[in-house]
Amino acid sequence: MKKSFWMPLCISAAVLMAACGGGEKKAEEKAPEETVAPAADNSMVADVSGKGKELMAAQDCATCHKETEKVIGPSFKEIAEKYPNTPENVATLADKIISGGSGNWGEIPMAPHAGISKPDAEEMVKYILTVK
Ligand code: HEC
Repeated sequence: MKKSFWMPLCISAAVLMAACGGGEKKAEEKAPEETVAPAADNSMVADVSGKGKELMAAQDCATCHKETEKVIGPSFKEIAEKYPNTPENVATLADKIISGGSGNWGEIPMAPHAGISKPDAEEMVKYILTVK
């Protein structure tokens, strides 16, 4: 009801266009929710358990991984479904991020990330395993 009341006002009144227009522009610019934020300074990443997500935003992970869609690598949701969130799995997957490798999801290998420290890689895995 609220919408149908405001809509004609936006269309007909030039003065209100400016006010309503601001809101419309924002909606257009908004990225789809599953897109992994590309920049570490994006305020979106500073939410719950945000550390691992933030660390990944500074890396190339989003090139091959999305939260819910398979790209080159499996989606984080698929990974979270496959591995229970246990300390063993976090450690194993953190090693895999650092050394790279293939075989668990197919022939395509994941590039190694030798520059990532083990604690940082573990933070990333902890985040990945919460994606549902
Ligand atoms: C060049 C593409 C590419 C990039 C960049 C990449 N990955 Fe992957 N990733 C893959 C592929 C392909 C697999 C599947 C490997 C396999 O079959 O074992 C994978 C698998 C994984 C897995 C599951 C490993 C397993 O053994 O099941 C995790 C966790 C993961 N990636 C995290 C990351 C993180 C975190 C980053 C960023 C630091 C990253 N990936 C960057 C391609 C990539």
